[in-house]
Amino acid sequence: MGIQIAPSILSADFVNLARDIAAVANGDWLHVDVMDGHFVPNFTIGLPVVERIAEVSTIPLDVHLMIDDPDRWAPRYVEVGASSVTFHLEAALAPIRLARELRGMGARVGIAIRPATPVEPTLEILSEFDMVLVMTVEPGFGGQTLIEETLPKIRTVRSAVDQAGGEIMVQVDGGISADNIGRVVEAGANVIVAGSAIFGSDDPGAEVSLLRERAKG
Ligand code: DX5
Ligand code: ZN
Repeated sequence: MGIQIAPSILSADFVNLARDIAAVANGDWLHVDVMDGHFVPNFTIGLPVVERIAEVSTIPLDVHLMIDDPDRWAPRYVEVGASSVTFHLEAALAPIRLARELRGMGARVGIAIRPATPVEPTLEILSEFDMVLVMTVEPGFGGQTLIEETLPKIRTVRSAVDQAGGEIMVQVDGGISADNIGRVVEAGANVIVAGSAIFGSDDPGAEVSLLRERAKG
C-alpha cells in the first residue's frame, strides 16, 4: 500500500465542517480526533457528531480516540460508522481484548503511543493491530512542532512491522507539513495525519496533493 494522507479535521472550521470535509475529499482517510478533557487537556467531539460526519464523508473515517476508558467507548465509534479506530495504549485497560472486539466488528484497529511512551510493549502485541500510531507531538492540540525524538521510534516500529510481514500500517500524527513529510516517510511512516498544514492552507485539497507528492521524496 502506498502512502495514505489523512487530513485531521481538528484544524477545520467546526461551524463549516461539511464544507471543510468536502474540501479534503481527495484525502485517503478523514482523521477525526476525539478528546475527553481527561486523557488530554482538550475536548472536541463525541459520538453524535462523529456519526453525522460518517454520513457525509466520502472517504473512510479514521477515528483517533484520546480518551480514558476506550474499552467502553471504542466499539461505539465502530457502530456509528468509523472504518478505523485507534485507541491509546496508555488508556486501555485490556488492549488485546479491545482490539479483538473491534476487529470482530469489522473495523481496522490502531494502537497509539504518546511521545514519551516506549514502543516495546506495543511491539509485543503487534499482531493484534492493523496500525501503530506514533504520536509526533503530545496529543491534545493541533499546530504544534514535531518532536524530533520521536523519529527513532518510527524507525523501530517500521523495522518490527517489516519483520512481521509489512502489512501493519505505521501512522504519524502531529506537526507534519510539506517541509518534513519526507523525513517521517523516510523513517518508515506510511499513514500521514496533518491538520494545521492542510486546513491552514488557502486550498486544503491542493495541500493534500502537495503532501502526497512530497512524500514520494
Ligand atoms: C493532536 C491530534 C492531531 C492534530 C494534528 O493531538 O491527534 O490529529 O490534528 O494537528 P497538526 O497536524 O496541526 O499537528
Ligand atoms: Zn490525531
